[in-house]
Order: sequence, then structure tokens, then C-alpha cells
Amino acid sequence: MHTDIAPLTARHHGPLKGRLRVPGDKSISHRALILGALAVGETRILGLLEGEDVLNTGKAVRALGARVERHGAREWRVHGVGVGGFAEPAAPLDFGNSGTGCRLMLGAVAGCPIAATFDGDASLRRRPMRRVLEPLERIGAHTLTSSEGRLPLRLAGARDPIPIVFEPPVPSAQLKSAVLLAGLAVPGETIVIEVEATRDHTEKMLVHFGAGVRVEPHGTLGRRITLAGQPELTPRPIVVPADPSSAAFPLVAAVITPGSDVILDGVMLNPLRAGLVATLIEMGALIERVGMRNEGGEEVADLRVRAGALRGVEVPASRAPAMIDEYPVLAVAAAFAEGTTVMRGLKELRVKESDRLAATVALLRANGVTADIAGDDLIVEGSGRAAGGGLVVTHMDHRIAMSALVMGLASEKPVKIDDASFIATSFPGFVELMRSLGADLS
Ligand code: S3P
Repeated sequence: MHTDIAPLTARHHGPLKGRLRVPGDKSISHRALILGALAVGETRILGLLEGEDVLNTGKAVRALGARVERHGAREWRVHGVGVGGFAEPAAPLDFGNSGTGCRLMLGAVAGCPIAATFDGDASLRRRPMRRVLEPLERIGAHTLTSSEGRLPLRLAGARDPIPIVFEPPVPSAQLKSAVLLAGLAVPGETIVIEVEATRDHTEKMLVHFGAGVRVEPHGTLGRRITLAGQPELTPRPIVVPADPSSAAFPLVAAVITPGSDVILDGVMLNPLRAGLVATLIEMGALIERVGMRNEGGEEVADLRVRAGALRGVEVPASRAPAMIDEYPVLAVAAAFAEGTTVMRGLKELRVKESDRLAATVALLRANGVTADIAGDDLIVEGSGRAAGGGLVVTHMDHRIAMSALVMGLASEKPVKIDDASFIATSFPGFVELMRSLGADLS
């Protein structure tokens, strides 16, 4: 588990300079462990994120019968049990802070004839699970106990799983992925129809492991995904690219800290994850994509980022799925822009690790920035500067913690956070990497 509560303060010191690689992508890391566990034989994973969220998923698949081992400095190996082959775990599965780990594993277990108890920390216990349980119950799983669709809950997987057509009521890659993972055990086709496309790592990795997946356009923004059930998943090596959602923090820090010049190596730029980079470039940020290439089936590039003036922009709701985790740190960038930034359609932010809409506004206001929520929109009045001086309450939310520290690197007075310990859920080594660029964090 993460270490004890640790307050931390960020101070403006000078420009950020240097070159670094952020850890592996969290979404791909969870999926690599889960699909590795559902394949027959050994899957080798290079560059797995060793954050607490992903390590909890590793413990869960181990408790279900897969073998998960670390080899040397960078490699993990998973010996899978095959689709439908999970064994009933002896103890509750604890997903800590991770909604992704929990929801994806609910799907993976829903296709197996076993029962398992799912639990997590106080933040995860507050988050909605009914949205995932509903389609899994249609497939044939049963929720044995749950308190109003929240953790802890006990799920019995389907004995005779049924193919379904599912249209997620909200754009959510977690929801889509849970249904596809359950669909692996189903005879026949499982279909997910997305009105707005979300990150497609599950679909891509299923294809990588040999499953039959058809992806067709649906409307202007959506996709229709058809999975042929009961495939034999064949282990294939996985190379995990650097996480764009983690790169977002040094990226914005370099954009807003005068004189900075930073290179971020090998950042994944999957179009369904690249909304922040597109938005910052619209705001006038000096970001160059160098050496575009393909690594492990994903587009990656080195990002050269220099500090410069920003202007406020309007971010359409349609972009939210491609940058859903990046709004808190975009809001920090918006404070340092000249003019108003309006970020539309952020309802889903209310059910992340914290109510991120409320937490982001509180973060900004505590540091002298004018910000408001109108309906589901977030409005930030940028003035090219921030006073700082605030104490930010992080609510067990790693991204609120890192966003507040980024703000402190460029604001006039230091910014303090109440607890940095949750940063380790997604970005182990954040403090050391930021210090290597010259950041003053103490
Ligand atoms: C994730 C999907 C997103 C994102 C989360 C990771 C994933 O959640 O916020 O950090 O790996 O599928 P939703 O799909 O629920 O929006």
C-alpha cells in the first residue's frame, strides 16, 4: 500500500530543463496483465507501469490462478490460465485506488463460473459500479452482495454466458472493456456500440492476442465493436509505451514555467489519448513532436516542450474522451493563459478518484485563480499568472496532487498539498523525475 500521509510543497525556482521518460501507460499495463492471465502460456511485458494500481491488478490475477513474476529490471511475465479458466479466489480482491483495475476485472470474472469479492480503498468505495454490473448481469453474472452498487461487492460469474449488444450510457473505456472481457467467454458475438469513441487499447490488444474483433464507424464520433467469443488467446510480447497522462504533468510544468525547455521521450500519442497535446497547441504552447514512430502497436513521439505565452480557448465536449484524465492539469495551464478557457461536458469528472470538477475548482481558487462550474462545464479566467500560496486538499486523488504541484512550480508563492502519497498509484518516481528537471519539491 502507499506510504503514510505526506504533505509536499512546490516552489518556483527557475526554468525546467532536461530530458526524461515517464513510466509505462497505466491503461495498457492493466490490460497486459489481464489478457496475459486469460491467454494460454507465457506473456512477456516490457516497461509495465509499477504503480500501485497496476500492482493491485497483478495481485488480483495471481489470486485467480495466473502466475505473475518480475524478471530483471524491466520485464514481467504472466502465465495465463486461458479464457474462462480463473479459479475462485480465497480472499477478497483489493483494487486499492483503481477504478480501471476493478472494473476491467469485474468483466474478466463475469465470464467465469466462479464468485469473487471486489473491494478497494475509501475513494474506490465511493465510485459507481452499477453501470458495469448492469451489462454483466445481462451476460449472466449475478451480483450477490453490494451496497447500492458500490464496493465491497461479490460477483458470481456466468455459468452459461449470453451474447449481448451493449450501448454504454456514458463514454467510458472501462465500461466497454469490462463487457468485451466478459464477452471472451461468451459463445457468439458480443457487440459494444459507442456513441463517442473512447481509448481503444482493449480492442487493439485483443487483436494482438489473436481474438476476432471487428471495429466499424458508428455515426460521426462513434464505433461499433464486435468480438467473436471463445477465442484461444495466444501470448504475444507487449511493449508498454510512456503514459501520456503522466507525461501531462512535466509537459504542462514546462509550458508554464518561464525559460523551460524539456524533452519527454517516447510518449504515446494514440489519437484517443492525445487531446491535451492538441489543446495546448491550440492555446499557443510550443510543443514539437519529434521522431514519430510505432512502438508496440502505438504511435509514439518525443515531445520537445518550451515555455511560452498561452491564450484561453474553448475545449469542446467531444474532446473529453481523448483527455478525460488531463482536465485538472489543463485547468492549471488555463490559469497561466491570457483570457478565458471553457472546458465543456465534464460530467464524468465527478466520479473519478475524487469529484475532480469540484477538486479542480478548489485547487485553483485556493491559489488566487478565478474558476467556476456552470452545469458540466469548467470555466477558468486566465491572467497569465497565479498567486499561489494555497493548501490544496487532494481527496485521495493522484492527479489533483500532481496538478497542484505543477501549479506551485510556476506560481508566485509556493503551493502545498496535504498528501502526496497517492501519486504512487500512477506515477512512481514523479518527485524524483521532476527534481531532475530542476523542480523545487520538498
Ligand atoms: C481508463 C479509462 C478512463 C480513465 C481511466 C483509465 C482505462 O475512465 O479515466 O484513468 O484504462 O480504460 P473511463 O473510461 O471510465 O472514463
